[in-house]
Amino acid sequence: MYLVDRFCISDNIYNMNIDILLGLQWGDEGKGKIVDVLSPGYDIIARFQGGPNAGHSLEFNNVKHVLHLIPSGIFHPEKLNIIGNGVVIDPGVFKKEIEGLGTSVQELSTRLIISSRANLILPSHRILDAAYEFQKGTTKIGSTLKGIGPAYTDKVSRNGLRVGDILKKNFKDLYTSHLKNHLIILKSYNFRFDLEEYEKGWFEGIDMLREFPISDTEYLVNKLAGKGSKVLAEGAQGTMLDVDFGTYPYVTSSNTISAGACTGLGISPKLIGEIFGIFKAYCTRVGSGPFPTELEDETGDSLRNIGREFGSTTGRARRCGWLDLPALKYSIMINGVTKLFMTKADVMSGFRSIKICKSYLVDGVASEEIPFNAEASIEPVYVELPGWEADISGMREFDKLPEALKSFIKFIEKETGVPVTMVSVGPDREETIFRK
Ligand code: GDP
Ligand code: IMO
Ligand code: MG
Repeated sequence: MYLVDRFCISDNIYNMNIDILLGLQWGDEGKGKIVDVLSPGYDIIARFQGGPNAGHSLEFNNVKHVLHLIPSGIFHPEKLNIIGNGVVIDPGVFKKEIEGLGTSVQELSTRLIISSRANLILPSHRILDAAYEFQKGTTKIGSTLKGIGPAYTDKVSRNGLRVGDILKKNFKDLYTSHLKNHLIILKSYNFRFDLEEYEKGWFEGIDMLREFPISDTEYLVNKLAGKGSKVLAEGAQGTMLDVDFGTYPYVTSSNTISAGACTGLGISPKLIGEIFGIFKAYCTRVGSGPFPTELEDETGDSLRNIGREFGSTTGRARRCGWLDLPALKYSIMINGVTKLFMTKADVMSGFRSIKICKSYLVDGVASEEIPFNAEASIEPVYVELPGWEADISGMREFDKLPEALKSFIKFIEKETGVPVTMVSVGPDREETIFRK
């Protein structure tokens, strides 16, 4: 009851108090930065899927923070943050992340709540992830190796351990029996591993998790939203990595799309207001899988170097390429995006001309659709637009942006039918332009 009162802004009953922000490409679109920027307008920030595979960066006062499991509203002390049931949690990663925040657990536990229904990533899930990837050889997914796939597999096959289980007296026994099953599977893989390396930190993380409120957060979110609190649901990964609609099998193991916010928080679609779709002015991808507009040349190197395109979680170099409109339109369709946010426009400054992929040749046939088959040959068909020279990172007004950039944005709006209402021109909180 205390929480309901503390995080409730008014007694008015609104119908659609939950907005969603999610990635429209292959992840790393800048979700963390923008969730942090938007947080002052919300009461609750809630993660609904993914886990420590995510790396959400945000910057203010010249300091960069990278979050993996904790929602990106955590730097606003008056906001409530929720890790929803759709997330998979590695307690070891959680503990390190909490310690990295430099705020006491006692204080954080008044504004960070964890769903009892969120599934746990066990140390043996990480080992299984590595064993499966090792076995795949040249066809590997390029997983972050955080145990995501095996943890979601256990969830869906009804073999998972959930956060609520850590409060049971026999938790250690439950853990041991799950581990036993995993060791049986691992026996059939010719894969060396060191379980103890992970286990110590994992159990310390379990102890830390117990210091936080663990509750049936679906009741809390619905109660608060019903009383007028505004909720921002924070997606992880991106639509093209969605387990159903991404470039399967080169995807993650959760529903990264707007529907995932409903299942990952326990909310009805009736409560959803805005669906903010975030995309980079170009494309990046980490790991394997189709990437039609990939540039394996000097232009790709420039995007990587200027955009500092190295993974926030693994440090891997991100593959870079031009903006892919068929993929963007597909993501907008699947998610029902109401507003577009474009990031990293500053990275494109200085390019004499900019290409946008408008359609594909799929196995030689013209198409504007994402093919089912990840092995299909996809050749991008480009249009070319003039680039801009000016350094835009100091600009704060949309009207003052270079005409060529405004034309680039207009082109995207015309093609997608969705307005671009925010342009990000740098990694810092301040480097953000909202369109009036
Ligand atoms: P997320 O996973 O979607 O939260 O994105 P990441 O944090 O993994 O990757 C985005 C990277 O781009 C981070 O290093 C951000 O600090 C940075 N970033 C975000 N927006 C902008 C922007 O508009 N311009 C530039 N240059 N960097 C940005
Ligand atoms: P954020 O939230 C970019 C990619 C991995 C790999 C595939 C499967 O920071 O945008 P997994 O570890 O889930 O089994 O990996 O998905 N991937 C991401 N790429 N950003 C992410 O998250 C990602 N999370 C997973 O590189 O190709
Ligand atoms: Mg990221």
